[in-house]
Amino acid sequence: PKATRAKVSKLADLRGQRVRVFGWVHRRRDQGGIIFVVLRDGTGYLQTILSGRVAQTYEALTLTLESTIEVIGTLHPVPEGKTAPGGHELSVDYWRVIGSAPGAEDAFTNRLNEKSDPSIQADLRHLVIRGENASGVLRLRSYLLNAFREAYASENILEVNPPCLVQTQVEGGATLFKLDYYGQPAFLTQSSQLYLETCLPSLGDVFCVQESFRAENSHTRRHLSEYTHLEAELAFIDFNDLMSHIEEIICKTVDILLANPITAGLIKSLNPSFQTPTRPFTRLSYVEAITWLNEHQIQHPEEDSSGNPIKDEQTNQINMVDHKVGDDIAEAAERQMTDIIGKPVFLYGFPAELKAFYMKKMDDKEGEGEKNVRYTESCDLLMPNVGEIVGGSMRISDEEELLAAYKKEGIDPSPYYWYTDQRKYGTTEHGGYGLGVERFLAWLANRYTVRECALYPRWPGRATP
Ligand code: 4AD
Ligand code: MG
Repeated sequence: PKATRAKVSKLADLRGQRVRVFGWVHRRRDQGGIIFVVLRDGTGYLQTILSGRVAQTYEALTLTLESTIEVIGTLHPVPEGKTAPGGHELSVDYWRVIGSAPGAEDAFTNRLNEKSDPSIQADLRHLVIRGENASGVLRLRSYLLNAFREAYASENILEVNPPCLVQTQVEGGATLFKLDYYGQPAFLTQSSQLYLETCLPSLGDVFCVQESFRAENSHTRRHLSEYTHLEAELAFIDFNDLMSHIEEIICKTVDILLANPITAGLIKSLNPSFQTPTRPFTRLSYVEAITWLNEHQIQHPEEDSSGNPIKDEQTNQINMVDHKVGDDIAEAAERQMTDIIGKPVFLYGFPAELKAFYMKKMDDKEGEGEKNVRYTESCDLLMPNVGEIVGGSMRISDEEELLAAYKKEGIDPSPYYWYTDQRKYGTTEHGGYGLGVERFLAWLANRYTVRECALYPRWPGRATP
């Protein structure tokens, strides 16, 4: 009988029938003249059995991992006491090699394994992504983006596609990638926030999924030079609404993933101790966080006026000091904090000096007694094992206040005329946030670094493959 052509993920309905499948040789095991080949086609894994005549050919004996093959045979449920992906296996009666792979002497099968040097793994990323863990993370990432979109759709929030090529900064001039744009200076976008704000009077609340670029010389577990930035902007809300909305979107997205057996299975295998976050998330003001850090003896390096750590002259060790109000909470301290707390936590109300120019100031001065500190309606969401995954704030809605903020930051307001206009043509209280998709995935799938969560990650010095 004629074989039905199918992808591995669609085989459950074809048990007992003859099927035809294409894929890559993922694993091979030889046992008493029988060859067990696990086939991978991107939708799943299929155990195939080559025995008797079909296993006795030159092609079968020399079949290498990562070769592409076509197989035809009858699909059986696995015999009792045995397991196979999907619960079935294919007894092959015809097969052929489509493209062979070099085999044991080759980089992939020989040089590349979990212990190989990170630079080799980075050079061979195009082959690494064929592995079960790497492809599992990328598979989860695809479903994650769908789940976010579903969560926004359920709130009637529209997706827009802002530009990558821009002539304004959002998060400070120091981390801009500059380029020549037909003879004019331009940048790769750091954040689509300003564009999202302009959509509010047109489309209402909006979100986008856009690459952001940061020329940061940070070689850390959570910094990329290019990352996928999920951003949203909401009108007619207050600061409390903003934080509730972030909780809602994150919890809804996680619920969608856990309700789907495919993604629930991926999360379970990549991150067996995953804990579903529960609402409301803990909220800690910046001032409370400083106290918390000192109570837990989490210090930070003492810095000179240009931000370099000060070393003790005798011991040559970096001086560690307590945190005080006004200090930035650096990555190391933030990570220790989230690891101790062990669940999502909102830090909110950062001093204006530490934050971007567009942020709305708090009405009353929190942290009485701390002179000259203006706090902002800003929040960072921290997750265990990763730290900051979301940064958000309410925005300045008053034109005069915004003009003063440009001035303070040393920004020429003229290229921002369209952003300023937002305050002239029917201003409103509004706010929004950005979420680092790779950081979110690192939390969800318990990855050591965001570099495992991007298809082809970019960091200082790395733009290949
Ligand atoms: O905190 P950030 O810089 O905030 C903004 O860009 C706002 N304009 C967003 C907004 O309000 N629409 O970045 C937001 C998030 C961070 O919390 C982090 O998750 C991620 O973007 N992020 C990075 N991820 C990977 N590599 C980097 N270099 C990142 N920089 C920020
Ligand atoms: Mg931030």
